[in-house]
Amino acid sequence: MGKLFYGTQTGYTAVVAEKIQAALPDLIGEVKCIQFVKAEEFSDCQFFVLGGSTWGDGELTDDWVDFFPQLDKIDFNGKTVALFALGDQASYSYNFVSAMKLLYDKLKERGANIIADRIPTTGFEYDHSESVVDGHFVGLTIDEMNEPELTDSRIEQWVSLVKAQLPAPALA
Ligand SMILES: Cc1cc2nc3c(=O)[nH]c(=O)nc-3n(C[C@H](O)[C@H](O)[C@H](O)COP(=O)(O)O)c2cc1C
Repeated sequence: MGKLFYGTQTGYTAVVAEKIQAALPDLIGEVKCIQFVKAEEFSDCQFFVLGGSTWGDGELTDDWVDFFPQLDKIDFNGKTVALFALGDQASYSYNFVSAMKLLYDKLKERGANIIADRIPTTGFEYDHSESVVDGHFVGLTIDEMNEPELTDSRIEQWVSLVKAQLPAPALA
C-alpha cells in the first residue's frame, strides 16, 4: 500500500487528499499531513502521493518548507511518486500552483519515478505556472477557490493515469 502526504495552510488540501484516497482505496493506506511525518516513514513503502497548496508567491506551505530539507536524506530510487497541487488561478494567476514544481524537481533529483505527470492545462486560465513542463502540469491540479465543481472529475481522470502508469513493484 502507498501513502499520501500533504501540506496545507488552511485545510483545503486535507479535504482533497481524502478524496484522492477515496478514489484510490487499494493503493493508498495512509493519509497524513507532512507536518506529522518523519523521514523514516518513507522507507517501508514504494508508492507515494505527495501534494499541497501553493502559498506566498509560488512557495510551498510552511509544513512542506519545514520538511523539505529531510527529502535530501531519502533515497527515492525505486520509488514511484504522483503529485497533486491546489492553487488559485484567478488571484494568483502569475504563479498558479507553482510550488508543485519545487517538489517535482527535488523528488526527481532524489531518484523518484514520477507518474501521472503530463496533465493537460486545458480548462485553466492563468498567466504563468512554474509547474507546467512541455505544456503540461506535472501533477493533478485543483482549484478549490474557483472551480470546486470540477475537482471530482479532475481527480477521477488523474487517478486513471496513476493506475495505468503505476509499475507493479510499487504495489508490493
Ligand atoms: C496569502 C496567500 C498566498 C497564495 N499564493 C498562491 C500562489 O502563489 N499560487 C497559487 O496558485 N495559489 C496561491 N494561493 C491560493 C491557495 O493555494 C489556495 O487557496 C488553496 O486552496 C489553499 O489550500 P490550503 O488551505 O490547503 O493551504 C494563495 C493563497 C493565499 C491566502
